[in-house]
Amino acid sequence: MASVPSLAATVHQRVADALSAALPEAGAADPLLRRSDRADFQANGVLGLAKRLKGNPRELAAKVVEALPSDDVLAGVEVSGPGFLNITITDSAITSTLAARAADDRLGVPYAENPGTTVIDYAQPNVAKEMHVGHLRSTVIGNAIVQILEHRGETVIRRHHIGDWGTQFGMLVQYLIEHPHELDHESDAAAGDGEGEAAMARLNRLYKASRVLFDSDEEFKERARRRLVDLQAGDAETRALWHKIVDESKIYFQGVYHKLDVEIRDADVVGESAYNDDLMNVVKDLEESGVAVRSEGALCVFFDDVKGPDGKPTPLIVQKSNGGFGYAATDLAAIRDRIGTLKADSLLYVVDARQALHFRMVFETARRAGWLPDEAAKQLPFGTVLGKDGKPFKTRAGETVRLIDLLDEAIERAAVVVAEKAPELTPSEVAERAAQVGIGAVKYADLSTSMSRDYVFDLDRMVSLSGDTSVYLQYAYARVQSIKRKAGGIEPVAHPDLPLAPAERALGLHLDDFADTLASVAETYEPHKLAGYLYQLASHLTTFYDQCPVLKAEGGPTMVENRLFLCDLTARTLRQGMSLLGIRTPERL
Ligand code: ARG
Repeated sequence: MASVPSLAATVHQRVADALSAALPEAGAADPLLRRSDRADFQANGVLGLAKRLKGNPRELAAKVVEALPSDDVLAGVEVSGPGFLNITITDSAITSTLAARAADDRLGVPYAENPGTTVIDYAQPNVAKEMHVGHLRSTVIGNAIVQILEHRGETVIRRHHIGDWGTQFGMLVQYLIEHPHELDHESDAAAGDGEGEAAMARLNRLYKASRVLFDSDEEFKERARRRLVDLQAGDAETRALWHKIVDESKIYFQGVYHKLDVEIRDADVVGESAYNDDLMNVVKDLEESGVAVRSEGALCVFFDDVKGPDGKPTPLIVQKSNGGFGYAATDLAAIRDRIGTLKADSLLYVVDARQALHFRMVFETARRAGWLPDEAAKQLPFGTVLGKDGKPFKTRAGETVRLIDLLDEAIERAAVVVAEKAPELTPSEVAERAAQVGIGAVKYADLSTSMSRDYVFDLDRMVSLSGDTSVYLQYAYARVQSIKRKAGGIEPVAHPDLPLAPAERALGLHLDDFADTLASVAETYEPHKLAGYLYQLASHLTTFYDQCPVLKAEGGPTMVENRLFLCDLTARTLRQGMSLLGIRTPERL
């Protein structure tokens, strides 16, 4: 009988432990165990060790092989090349390890050893403006990272640093004061469907009308400027109108998040305005400590390595010469709040790569001021979403594409795919599945590309049933559910004594990697590696189906149960992984 491994142990870990035990003089030396094409694993650690011990690597490798226990994990170990070890695992070790995994709700994924507190800044659109594809990336990537970190036991505080402060609010509020009915619901002309769309239509109209006046009427411009001062000083009437604008926008944002199937809690929406009261302190501290200096009236921080095209240093402007505060000041105040009050160990910023210089300067300033420990803050910069022409995604008229329109189109495309595959569905069933497929497709396309890279927004590819798409993964999941339904009363049961076919071994060993993959994804903040893992998992499952009949397995009832077990664990792993990415796995497709 195979021994029962502990919950967290993977096959990988069990082999690594056996290698370390076989070579006590190696101490904590890493056996450098990797999956391999030649055998199940290859260990390359003997090479480095031999070098350190000034011995012959092949001889040392042979010593390791001799010292290895003959237990039920290792089926064979061979020395190859200059001193690699090619290692083959027993079928029973694979099945029994997976059985332990399956008995655990967390699928054997351990909690982080030293979880801390992370504040993550993501999904930060701008008030009174449309959400565009850039906000898609920040929302989808941020949401995935939140879930992956929380799954590991990290305390995660979400901060949606929305753009709700700045010069344009003087203009908008002043216009509202002079045109009090502008935001009234009755004056709706061309509101779209839904409450959120109507709110955005009103805001757009307000924005355009006030902009026209601002650009053409010097006196209005002056009144708008004074209004901004009132706003920042906390004048009650001004604040109330500003609030109205912010609330309208939040209604719109929530509509988009709802369609995107991402939960954003109101309490976590802490925009630029929230830091207003601390801005004077930020200025005072930076000036007194000498971190910032006055230059032509503005309060600036200089950096040796940040220069403009003319060779002159480009400063970070904390306060403008007219006394106004900008984007940098609120970000500095936010750092003080997140480290000082929220007691974060790490700060993450899921923001467009084009803001990299801003964050570099802000982080360095906060460090010089003593507000931010070294390495505590990190921007996770993402690339640009491109159109099929390879240029930043724009409408034909050259305008930025509304996120909501893209989502609607993705759902429409998905509806075609769903209806074609399952003609028996009612229209409302099609609509429900199309939303899960279409939104999943958009999220997956974004998350499966390494975040710093640009990618082309191509719906045809995104909703395709084959290739590296979420539909392919959702289909893999649904197929297992369909097999389980057909299995009737037969339950998935692991039988470690059964021999495994090559496709079963490959699937099983890939399943074995789930916990390690998640750990590394959480450490490096790279959700695309989880997407890649899941895609490979689905591909292994496809090969397994081709080669190994499940319900008609040639080896009789125990083999049926064991294959069902493999299918089921694969489906649970797919579901868990997809859900961490924020993607639904419908039971039928
Ligand atoms: N509102 C900004 C934008 O849409 C993103 C804010 C990023 N976060 C921050 N703390 N600056 O570009």
